[in-house]
Amino acid sequence: MKILIACYSWKGHTRTVAQALAKKLNASCTDIEPQGGMSPVSGGIKALFGMKGKIRSVGSDIKEFDHLVIATPVWSHNIPPYTRQYLSEITNTSGKKFSVLVEMGGSGAGRVVAIVRKMMEAKGMEFVASAVTLEKDVDANQFDTVLTEFAEKIQSSQKNH
Ligand SMILES: Cc1cc2nc3c(=O)[nH]c(=O)nc-3n(C[C@H](O)[C@H](O)[C@H](O)COP(=O)(O)O)c2cc1C
Repeated sequence: MKILIACYSWKGHTRTVAQALAKKLNASCTDIEPQGGMSPVSGGIKALFGMKGKIRSVGSDIKEFDHLVIATPVWSHNIPPYTRQYLSEITNTSGKKFSVLVEMGGSGAGRVVAIVRKMMEAKGMEFVASAVTLEKDVDANQFDTVLTEFAEKIQSSQKNH
């Protein structure tokens, strides 16, 4: 099974968790990068209203992969505009599996998982699992249990097919 982890991270927490997951799953990682800098104030407002933000071109064709993991922080109880742009761009999604890794300060992860699910399921993808990490646990390097459980769900979803 070939797994791609697509990650947006501003301060690095989401990237730390995404990279640790990539090691466990032997997955490829791609960074979603804003184009032309990013301001947390306007980014937070755009997130709140469900708007997109320009990103640099990342390989948005996932034809080589069987499973996509979206790794994203919670912004304004929503997804950052850059994550939303990436999700709207990806192609060759139909029939593929996806999972969601959410990083946050303290609240909004459930809503973020629901938003990502709705967008990806509309593109014909099949939801497998989600996991949530907290900023303070990432700072304390205490997220391995959550991540191990998440990685196992992703691996066993492939064995079932
Ligand atoms: C614009 C903005 C809005 C945020 N909104 C929320 C929120 O609604 N709920 C929450 O729990 N954390 C919120 N956070 C905190 C981030 O989710 C948290 O700091 C996370 O660790 C950031 O991940 P990163 O280091 O990969 O950028 C927000 C952060 C920013 C910059």
